[in-house]
Parts: sequence; C-alpha cells; structure tokens
Amino acid sequence: MKNPKIAQKSPVVIDTKTGTYYFCTCGESKKQPFCDDSHTGSEFVPEKTEVKEDGKVAWCACKYSKNGAFCDGTHRDL
Ligand code: FES
Repeated sequence: MKNPKIAQKSPVVIDTKTGTYYFCTCGESKKQPFCDDSHTGSEFVPEKTEVKEDGKVAWCACKYSKNGAFCDGTHRDL
C-alpha cells in the first residue's frame, strides 16, 4: 500500500463534539484532520471515527498513528 502524505508532524488539537467523523487517511485533505474527498481515485478511504464525549481531541495529522485517528506520539519519530 502507498504511504500516506504527512499533512503535518504534529496533531490537530480541536474542541470536538460527540459524534461521527470521517478521518482523512491519505493526508491530502485540505480540511485536516477530516476527509474532503481528496482520496478519490486513490487506494485510501476515510476512517469512520466515533467521538464519545465532547472535549479536546488530538487528531493525528501525520497519518502514522497506531491509534487510528488519534495522535499517539508517533509523529515525533518521523
Ligand atoms: Fe501525532 Fe500522528 S500527529 S501520531
């Protein structure tokens, strides 16, 4: 599988409401960390992600987190 583009080497930390989100996995979206359909025509698909409570979320923007849409610190090693 092709490697995703590193959108940035730090998380996008935003106040996030409880709900369903579509996380960009290709790294090409202009609406990081969310899908804007830039993946169309590639092998990437967005990752449906549930946020279970309102609050600050550190969304992964490097696209290499082992914790799905959520930053796990992997960006520090890139
Ligand atoms: Fe932190 Fe991807 S931005 S692991």
